[in-house]
Amino acid sequence: MKKDPTDLRPVLWREDKLIIIDQTLLPGEERYIELKNTEEVVEAIKKLRVRGAPAIGVCAAYGLYVALRERMRAGRPAGRAADAGTCFRQAFWETAAAIGAARPTAVNLRWAIARQEKVFTDAEKAGKDPEEILAALLTEAKTIHAEDEEACRQMGENGLTLLKPGMGILTHCNAGALATSRYGTCLSPIYLGEASGYGFHVYADETRPLLQGARLTAWELARAGVDVTLICDNMAQTVMRKGLIDAVCVGCDRMAANGDGANKIGTAAVAILAKEFGIPFYMFVPTSTIDLATKSGNEIQIEEREGAEIAEMWYNKPMAPAGIKTFNPAFDVTPAAYITAVVTERGIVRPPYGPGLKRIMEQYEL
Ligand code: MRU
Repeated sequence: MKKDPTDLRPVLWREDKLIIIDQTLLPGEERYIELKNTEEVVEAIKKLRVRGAPAIGVCAAYGLYVALRERMRAGRPAGRAADAGTCFRQAFWETAAAIGAARPTAVNLRWAIARQEKVFTDAEKAGKDPEEILAALLTEAKTIHAEDEEACRQMGENGLTLLKPGMGILTHCNAGALATSRYGTCLSPIYLGEASGYGFHVYADETRPLLQGARLTAWELARAGVDVTLICDNMAQTVMRKGLIDAVCVGCDRMAANGDGANKIGTAAVAILAKEFGIPFYMFVPTSTIDLATKSGNEIQIEEREGAEIAEMWYNKPMAPAGIKTFNPAFDVTPAAYITAVVTERGIVRPPYGPGLKRIMEQYEL
């Protein structure tokens, strides 16, 4: 039965608990798990139980709070710390560092932790005690969560102005509800349009090696009654050549100041193909994903993951010779020159991206 796409929320704050959908089990099983401490939060982010740049940021913000709360309840760290305040401070900075380092590419993780670090520093300066600081951290996590939900809804409205009823849309990886607080970034306009009868035809790249397109995008779109066709990554050229694609819509993990955008491995190849076929390539980038401190895509650290994801995972038996050398970069950078427009919650930015992104971010600071 068709389900309301807006009810899909990968990160939940319920009865004082941090709950996530374990995305490694989808599409077979929709299981919700609680994350209670630093180890569980870090493991969930590393293993992609929670994934997608904005969702990782939201989870990290709550995760820092629950992990610190757990450490305080357990009376750690004891050690040589002189007093309760010092213990608390030490626990905060250790936890922030551990969670902040769980994955390197999506800037939302460091961005959310940096927001919590500011809350902590300001609260300490104001002379607040650990209980009050914990309360302030929880409030900030809820604010980040609510802001992301609103940003996604707004990106949907902005993105929809670029799309027309009946369009064929190619997407890569999963930048849907599962990757955010709600709605998604690049799938948000598709859900909004669908509610108004746009009748989009979405083509989802399977997205090797972790299959976010097959397991997550195809699942959440089909669940919402959107017409979705799953293709292998190496079929993008064929569907474009057949005239089935009118626009490419993808998410982003970190956009540098010059408009280069890191996203799931394989995105850049799709962008290059789109340019060849004269198809607009839209990158959906909430301001929490724009990193003006990074000048260009060359400076973005690309996560490298285990070779087993390529050689063994999903297969009944290993599909590569034992001990084969592998290279498994999880993201690539789409050069700004291949991006037709950047859709943010503050508006649509067109090239040249340097001044446009700066303007959007200054607006954000106000
Ligand atoms: O490795 P993942 O699944 O976390 O990668 C996710 C992506 O690349 C998404 O496209 C990106 O985070 C944008 S999510 C709105």
